[in-house]
Amino acid sequence: MINILKKFPKLNYSLLPTPIHKLENLSKFFGANIYCKRDDMTGFAFGGNKTRKLDYLVAEAIAQKTDTLVCVGANQSNFCRIASAYGSACHLDVTLVLGGKKPPVATGNLMLDYLFGARITHIDSEDWDVWENEAIRISEDLRKKGKKVYWMPIGGSTHTGALGYVECMIEITDYSKRHKVDFDYIIHATGSAGTQSGLVVGKQLTGWKGEIIGMAVTKHKHQLTEEVLTLSRETAAMFDIEVNKQNIKVDDNYIGKCYGAHTKKAEDAIKLFARKEGILLDNVYTGKAASGMLDYLSKKHFEKNANILFLHTGGNIQLFK
Ligand SMILES: Cc1ncc(COP(=O)(O)O)c(C=O)c1O
Repeated sequence: MINILKKFPKLNYSLLPTPIHKLENLSKFFGANIYCKRDDMTGFAFGGNKTRKLDYLVAEAIAQKTDTLVCVGANQSNFCRIASAYGSACHLDVTLVLGGKKPPVATGNLMLDYLFGARITHIDSEDWDVWENEAIRISEDLRKKGKKVYWMPIGGSTHTGALGYVECMIEITDYSKRHKVDFDYIIHATGSAGTQSGLVVGKQLTGWKGEIIGMAVTKHKHQLTEEVLTLSRETAAMFDIEVNKQNIKVDDNYIGKCYGAHTKKAEDAIKLFARKEGILLDNVYTGKAASGMLDYLSKKHFEKNANILFLHTGGNIQLFK
């Protein structure tokens, strides 16, 4: 199955396949079968879901003879941290356009962006469109200066980036065949649509029968569902298949006030994962996704013997900010 991806250029910085294991203590605690796919262990530059996307994105950039990557995100963007590391490893300049006030001290991901040698422009705005427009403007300026720019939108969520999660879905179905565990649900944090779109296309390609539930952490259900649908269609077109809208499920009950806002449920989920499993989540993405899954478990949303797979997408550097 993995052969269907061979036609797309890809780097191999992610350590794949990532492990899947049962969360024995949480499973006992909830009387359920809960597994975890450890995409927090993709390795490169502390890992996370963005290495899967960047293996395809940066390969495409190199194939296009790019010399400069331009990326956009929040001050604590996981994507920008990992893209900066690809720049170092692949001899590409990296310009980051980071939204939000420039903090007095660079911590967490931002500290690592500087360590990797990225050039950084801070935009004092919370509006994602403002960030992206500024990144497009900076890209144009760099092109005028003779640079060959490859610019990536928030989260690297293009059809090329989504290929990383088509591959993840293939890994999951391979695991099921080898270990004779059929997953009924995959639960993950969904933010800029790339991860979920890749999974949805992977589901259609592999024929996996379960349900993918994206726990929204950025935008509300309607908008995110439309974004996932659009990007899934673009990604599916790369394989000449169509996407079934029924396969796109987004739950926006666990975002809290807004993207990045603290929620008590996420804080509790982070503590439970840390204290029962020794696994670190974060407040912005995986803690919120886990809080949704734990809420479903306590409300008996899943059938009795269902196998539930929590896709851990990384991001725990946020704990150190
Ligand atoms: C740790 C983590 N998990 C999940 C996501 C959401 O992934 P996507 O933007 O592809 O929906 C992100 C995106 O930034 C992330 O950094």
